[in-house]
Amino acid sequence: MEPAIIVHGGAWAIPDEEVEAHLRGVRRAAELGWRVLKEEGSSLDAVERAVMLMEDDPTFDAGVGSFLNREGGVDLDASIMDGELRAGAVASVNRVRNPVRLARLIMERTEHLLFVGEGAHKLASSFGLELIDPGELVVERERRRWEEFKAKGMSPRKAFEKSTVGAVAVDSRGRFAAALSTGGSPYRMVGRVGDVPIIGAGLYADNGKGAAACSGHGESIMKVVLAKSTVDMLALGLGAMEAARAGVSLLERVGGRGGVIVIDRSGEIGYHYNTPRMAIAYARGGVVESLI
Ligand code: GLY
Repeated sequence: MEPAIIVHGGAWAIPDEEVEAHLRGVRRAAELGWRVLKEEGSSLDAVERAVMLMEDDPTFDAGVGSFLNREGGVDLDASIMDGELRAGAVASVNRVRNPVRLARLIMERTEHLLFVGEGAHKLASSFGLELIDPGELVVERERRRWEEFKAKGMSPRKAFEKSTVGAVAVDSRGRFAAALSTGGSPYRMVGRVGDVPIIGAGLYADNGKGAAACSGHGESIMKVVLAKSTVDMLALGLGAMEAARAGVSLLERVGGRGGVIVIDRSGEIGYHYNTPRMAIAYARGGVVESLI
């Protein structure tokens, strides 16, 4: 099968001055994922590496550069899933640089799926991951944004404006995988968790159907179990683009805003969003395209 990867850098009103950095970031992530696939790496390796690259890029709301919560701290969520229905996830962590790496280790080395907070940090340490000072994830841009939200007393819904990086891939052996990582919504209440670590809501992969990963308002995405619903539409015979459009229509039933990226069983790529912009890049047949 022809391998393919699609990545996103969040669905939101990306300001004009940030467009270039977003395009550059998603393109680099798609190129890296493509190199992994071309060298016969697995789709799981490709999505993990692509998402790690975006976690390390302060442009995005994931890893370093994430939004700050109401108390001025960082809460990170991430997940990963392969088409054999294996999955791992973390929520409310702030001492690991790459939460998606921890999610994968949870999937591969434990009999559990989701770890939160201190337990997740302990596990990370037992896996040999470096525990960092949470302050290392904070950038000046977000510190300023937090000051603004605080002055205006924003509600989390009103403050929602961007979220999440994600990747979906299929490798030459027809194996699907998806991965997500986020700092959540800006100025979120401490303890609030969105769709990203919820399998079926934020992402889903099934070798018999395809895979999808979402971005947007987590509460809405969870209500319609967006990623699994989108993958199920592939099983009903919709192509990747049609399924992505149908997924966003479903999101609109609950007034949700966001987007979804998809790959179907024939390797076709799909994406759709109802936010002003979504940063997307995909690679297939050695050609990388990026759009916003
Ligand atoms: N979609 C990310 C979040 O709502 O936390």
